[in-house]
Amino acid sequence: MSDQLEKAEYNRREFLAASAAAGLGLSVAEALGQESKNKDEINIAIIGAGTQGRVLMNSILKIPGVRIKAVGDIWEYSQRYTSRYVKKFGHENNVYADYKELLAKEKDLDAVVTAAPDWMHAPISIAALEAGLHVYCEKMMSNNAEAARSMVKARDKSGKLLQIGHQRRSNPRYLHVKHKLLGEAKLLGPQINYANAQWNRGIKTDNTWPSKYEMAQEELEKWGYDSMHTFRNWRWFKKYGGGPISDLGAHQIDVLNWFYGSTPKAVMGSGGIDFYEKVEHNDTNMLIYEYDLPNSKTGRAFYQVLTTTSSLGFLERFMGTEGTLAFSEAPRWNEVYREVSTEEEWTKWAEKGYIAKEGAKDTGDEEKVVDIRQSPAPEKWLIPVENDKPIHMYHLENFFAAIRDGVPLNCPAEIGFQTCATVLKGTEAINTGKRIEFTEDDFKI
Ligand SMILES: NC(=O)c1ccc[n+]([C@@H]2O[C@H](COP(=O)([O-])OP(=O)(O)OC[C@H]3O[C@@H](n4cnc5c(N)ncnc54)[C@H](O)[C@@H]3O)[C@@H](O)[C@H]2O)c1
Repeated sequence: MSDQLEKAEYNRREFLAASAAAGLGLSVAEALGQESKNKDEINIAIIGAGTQGRVLMNSILKIPGVRIKAVGDIWEYSQRYTSRYVKKFGHENNVYADYKELLAKEKDLDAVVTAAPDWMHAPISIAALEAGLHVYCEKMMSNNAEAARSMVKARDKSGKLLQIGHQRRSNPRYLHVKHKLLGEAKLLGPQINYANAQWNRGIKTDNTWPSKYEMAQEELEKWGYDSMHTFRNWRWFKKYGGGPISDLGAHQIDVLNWFYGSTPKAVMGSGGIDFYEKVEHNDTNMLIYEYDLPNSKTGRAFYQVLTTTSSLGFLERFMGTEGTLAFSEAPRWNEVYREVSTEEEWTKWAEKGYIAKEGAKDTGDEEKVVDIRQSPAPEKWLIPVENDKPIHMYHLENFFAAIRDGVPLNCPAEIGFQTCATVLKGTEAINTGKRIEFTEDDFKI
């Protein structure tokens, strides 16, 4: 239970005891018996109830002991949809356009979950922390490194929790890869030497809106948007978001840092606005990050976001001298390859359930070499971990468990900040055409 709740609980008991003593007709026990809020219940507000806000809402509705008490969104369409939807599940909620009013009026909250556009992450999260609430804030933490830094500082000042929505950090498959396959079994060898990852997505048309829910110009400007078009397509504009590299790439660049176990030392890149019209961010982004390895050599990671082709979709690949791992948040990618030269047999890891064989068609090193130029295929295995919940649910569960039971957050603010700084420098490298070396200050709070 949060400090705020504990305080409210204490004040209420004091008041009831005083009322009983003053002969108001209720015994303390009777009065306390009327209490409707379960002490273990976590009351939350969702601020920014658009596409992702509703994805999170759907997971939250499945998590016992969490009540959605308020919905904050500047757009009537999102307000109505989300508020009505959660009501159907018995969550009575109040609706607000202005998050500041929500925070001022909702006195019974423990936490805020925000999925507003990136530029609003810092103001909303900081105001919620200052109101004494825990915060789950979607990625990317901010489109501005200074704003992201101020979120960490506000978190530190408040003593509350700030989880950033890089949900792969709570995904059982990713945790299995990180701790079992890389950490314990060291299937790739002593270290990761290379990585490549990508998010390729086919052409997307602009987001539109039902004419019934078109906001008046004055209303749009009040909230900082110059038109319905920029409001609905904020991702492409510098004021509001970081572009595809932050929108899609932040997820996987976060995994690069996580699995390499550090932040990078340098980045270089190439990219540009190669296809779309009237956008401000690069639609094509190709980056190479360099990491210091434990053996004093350099590990390199190639990362790309393409927005005009869905070729091979989105996945991460990590390579070492003894093997390769290829996987993704999507089940489509699930491969572990043992190098032909690897001496250690992997059957012992299969016996422990860490890896599995695919079945008859997975012939691996028994494949016939039909051409003398063709080297024998590396032995192929699978990661035998399937997710049984929506992908964001694990990360939300981690957040609520941290509030309730004090378990550590899987992506606390300082990690989200490192990822944010890593991504934003990647954009800078593309836009300046320079190889940029990271400094200590880039990652300092
Ligand atoms: N973790 C993930 O997998 C994932 C996936 C998609 C999006 N996201 C993140 O979620 C966030 C929202 O993305 P989306 O796709 O839902 O965008 P969206 O445009 O569909 O929704 C944004 C919502 O925020 C509202 N909003 C705008 N300004 C606001 C303000 N000042 N106060 C309150 N509400 C405001 C809008 O009215 C809209 O309802 C972004 O930060 C995005 O990066 C994360």
